[in-house]
Amino acid sequence: MTPSQNDSARNADLTALQDRQGAEQELFELLRIPSVSADPAHAGDMTRAADFLQLKLQSLGFTARVDPTAGHPLVYAERLDAPGQPTVLIYGHYDVQPEAPLEEWVTPPFEPTVRDGRIYARGSTDDKGQAYAHVRGVELLLRAGPLPVNVKFLLEGEEEVGSPSLEAYLRDHADELRADVIVISDGSRFAPDVPTVTYGLRGLSYVEIHVQGANRDLHSGSYGGAAPNPINALCEIITRLKDEQGRVTIPGFYDGVEELTPEEREMWAGLPHSDEEFAASIGVSDLPGEAGYSTLERLWARPTLDVNGIWGGYQGEGSKTVIAAKAGAKVSMRLVPGQDPERITRLVQDYVPTLAPRGVQVEVRALHGGQPVKVDLDSPFIQAADRALTRVYGKPAAFGRTGGSIPIVADFRRILGAPVLLVDFGLNEDAPHSPNESFALEDYHNGILTSAYLLQELGLQEIGE
Ligand code: BES
Ligand code: MN
Ligand code: MN
Repeated sequence: MTPSQNDSARNADLTALQDRQGAEQELFELLRIPSVSADPAHAGDMTRAADFLQLKLQSLGFTARVDPTAGHPLVYAERLDAPGQPTVLIYGHYDVQPEAPLEEWVTPPFEPTVRDGRIYARGSTDDKGQAYAHVRGVELLLRAGPLPVNVKFLLEGEEEVGSPSLEAYLRDHADELRADVIVISDGSRFAPDVPTVTYGLRGLSYVEIHVQGANRDLHSGSYGGAAPNPINALCEIITRLKDEQGRVTIPGFYDGVEELTPEEREMWAGLPHSDEEFAASIGVSDLPGEAGYSTLERLWARPTLDVNGIWGGYQGEGSKTVIAAKAGAKVSMRLVPGQDPERITRLVQDYVPTLAPRGVQVEVRALHGGQPVKVDLDSPFIQAADRALTRVYGKPAAFGRTGGSIPIVADFRRILGAPVLLVDFGLNEDAPHSPNESFALEDYHNGILTSAYLLQELGLQEIGE
């Protein structure tokens, strides 16, 4: 594309070309498909969602296919009609978290409903709405003229279960997936009125702790006081994993953790954050956490250890006098740059059994993990994103990290060797993974516009062959 063609595309008034109703109706169709990756009963829905995306991308002139994997299929599509121009790979996921607890949804999770300017549906913000904003962003740009960049889409169906098939897929398709930059919108902006470029994700180590006591459940009168109690033992273990300062006690856990740079500290101090509002937004009266760190530091730059689930013993109505034979807990550790998930998992597996009270057996099973990510802020892509966001929101972007994890992002860099650009359209208050997940219509349409502008801005970068 010549510079003048690019200029004219850039100056076209894309807002006038937006088809809000069409964009909404199509997203609703996708949201109606219950593509819950964790539940084998939804295997057919995974295929339906993948087929829907393939057909849509084909209708936009993309070469698109649905590739089977050992797990759920993924959608790959490309439109390479800007030779010599940069290639942008857009990644997203069409799988969603389970809808449970169903009774807490005001309207059904897979019947998208608009209330107060928000689309309520499972996957509305995480990640169907944000991913589809890019599909419609490309469509919008095509209405204005030729694409200023080569565009590839990679939309997977296993993100919410740890992307077990994607690493091998990246290796097998490394040439085909080659790109100058990888764009991802699968997280949260800092605040409603703050357009955000995200430059860091936490990593993850996820384990289960299993505690075994007697060879059967025991009468708590006949045996209580003498026999070991696995639930009490589990609670003791969990209690000892953190000290009174909120620090994780696992030896070596903090080794290598990167400290904030003075510039980052200063930048974060300038972000509009209030502890009181943050606490109020989740209905709690205080924010316990690691001593000596601010809330943003605790969320973005410090590792955590949280019990995510716990089981054992009698849970039914009334009382049952019983000492359970076993108990267990699911534990997630969010990791930060400088920590390696496999190493952390090993440390946990070595340490937790040493905490076992007498008479019980303790086993730590590793479930999955993911590397932390920090994006270099000093890049022309970051500036391109800043310009695109400024055009949409009328103010420059804030730069922040996030506490969540997208495990495949580190593999993108390692295997495809391309920089990642995280431009989030959602908000924490969208309640991803919770009942009544939603996505503001305004955020969806701004996302579409941002995507289109971003591709224009990336088209002005001096890269490519
Ligand atoms: N979109 C989220 C990741 C995210 C959450 C980014 C919050 C920014 C803010 C993603 O779909 C997700 O839920 N990831 C999981 C990873 C896990 C399933 C391996 C997570 O963070 O728990
Ligand atoms: Mn997501
Ligand atoms: Mn998610």
